[in-house]
Amino acid sequence: MQIGVIGAGYVGLVTAAVFADLGNDVVCHDRDESRIRMLQQGEMPFYEPGLQEMVTRNMRDRRLRFTTRVDEMVDFARVIFIAVGTPADSDGDTDLSQVKSAARAIGQHMKEYKIIVNKSTAPVGTGDLVRQIIAAHQPQPVPFDVVSNPEFLREGSAIQDMLNPDRIVIGAPSRQVAMAVMELYAPLGRPILVTDVQTAEIIKYASNAFLALKISFINAIADLCEATQADIEMVARGIGLDHRIGPHFLRAGLGYGGSCFPKDVQSLIHTARRYRVDDGLFVAAHRINRVRVERFVHRMDHVLNGLDGKAIGVWGLSFKPDTDDLRESRAVELVQRLLDAGATVQVYDPVAVPRARTVLGDTVVYCTNAYEAAQDVDALAIATEWREFRQVDFDRLRQRMRQPIIFDGRNMYDPERMARMGFYYYSIGRPMVSPERAAG
Ligand code: UGA
Repeated sequence: MQIGVIGAGYVGLVTAAVFADLGNDVVCHDRDESRIRMLQQGEMPFYEPGLQEMVTRNMRDRRLRFTTRVDEMVDFARVIFIAVGTPADSDGDTDLSQVKSAARAIGQHMKEYKIIVNKSTAPVGTGDLVRQIIAAHQPQPVPFDVVSNPEFLREGSAIQDMLNPDRIVIGAPSRQVAMAVMELYAPLGRPILVTDVQTAEIIKYASNAFLALKISFINAIADLCEATQADIEMVARGIGLDHRIGPHFLRAGLGYGGSCFPKDVQSLIHTARRYRVDDGLFVAAHRINRVRVERFVHRMDHVLNGLDGKAIGVWGLSFKPDTDDLRESRAVELVQRLLDAGATVQVYDPVAVPRARTVLGDTVVYCTNAYEAAQDVDALAIATEWREFRQVDFDRLRQRMRQPIIFDGRNMYDPERMARMGFYYYSIGRPMVSPERAAG
């Protein structure tokens, strides 16, 4: 099949690469010239495991190419995926300007029947809007159909998620149109759910909001555990073993970040209000998440007797492991709050430092390894659970620190072990431990 993709961001690029890898001919368009030039030279605009190899292989085999010319892409493709950004506007509603401009461009250049598939996360009703914009911009009326096919991939495991989704949702205006899109996904052999367009649009928001809700739920329970000396990790296991609840997305910590959950929960709140539906549940998830880092820093401030003039090491900057994405990163918020409180901050992240320089500038010291970030600090804070932080030489770490105090925002270690290794260890929703307590 001849496929076009508008947008060479996470979703667009992964979609283009995977469909090419499945044997389709794919043209990926982005209006950002420097991004397209980079891609044409085989360089990725962001870090995503496995993507570079897949893109390079398919470019070499001439199944995948990149262009800044939207007319060329529209001419070529029978099915066009819209995978552009849908950021939040200043009051948290969804900014659809990129979706609208993609629809305009498709309309202007369409000369024969096409299926337009929206993959961008956009509120219910966007499919209709895209249809109207295309129709309004066609020089001559040409038939077309608009489909909603939400994407559920996660950064850091995007390729695997796209090849192996739990389900594929296709919201189409008719069975026949759904079948054409289903054909593209058939080689994956995964469950496919066919719905109408607005149902598919809501499935995307309901999925993300439900996961965000699970995280805020476990964080609210973590606060209760902290107040009562209970252990959130055991509570999460205790409830997660009930198969009706399930064990996933119950990791307490600094809360959710990234380019999806914070924005999608906010967008859902706007949609609920627009349709005069109760938004209380979503507002609560957002409120609980918003205060996680503030609460964490407050605790650091209390334990360290003020943060002004203190040296703090921070491990992790990306919003989660295996990505260099800093959007809505709780780790970056943590660093900023520490700086605001007068601390000096030295940071380490396995991949996100180059990007962090553009956000944090020279307000922090960038370190080249985890131990360096702990050199002479009054305390170390862990903000992102990178795998390499699991296997730490704790003796070496302790000797580097001015005081052996760790604030773990991602519950990476067993508290008893940390106490035995000589640390004062504060984690989320678990009792604090100290070397004295271990000795006693
Ligand atoms: C999320 C969804 O998981 C994907 O299914 C969806 O396709 C994507 O949004 C999207 O809409 O594009 P992503 O933002 O890449 O994917 O990252 P997640 O792995 O879901 O993590 C989101 C945030 O939740 C991270 O900050 C993570 O640290 C946090 N989290 C996750 C927790 O705090 N606790 C958990 O138990 C799980």
